[in-house]
Amino acid sequence: MSRWTRQIHRWLSIAFTLAVIANFATMAFIEPPAWVVYAPLPPLFLMLVSGLYLFFLPYAGRARRRTAGAE
Ligand code: HEM
Repeated sequence: MSRWTRQIHRWLSIAFTLAVIANFATMAFIEPPAWVVYAPLPPLFLMLVSGLYLFFLPYAGRARRRTAGAE
């Protein structure tokens, strides 16, 4: 589960980066259309969710170990 989340986070970072580059590339020539401007937001939102999950993984593991042992 955590390995999957890490892979998803990793590949979303590529998608997000490409979407941002597409913005600058379009801006060099024309005013970018709305769908280009908003293209990075869906991957960014998913990165926020998967990133927060990855952040709390070590703490969740620690809390579980503490409650599992007898004192
Ligand atoms: C939006 C909020 C984000 C949060 C909360 C977040 C959080 C995290 C966390 C906690 C990790 C794991 C660090 C560890 O190894 O302990 C991680 C890994 C990573 N993050 Fe994010 N991140 C976010 C957005 C991004 C963005 C925008 C990018 C790049 C465009 C990015 C690229 C990466 C990469 C490449 C890794 C390493 C993945 C791997 O281990 O293969 N993250 N992130």
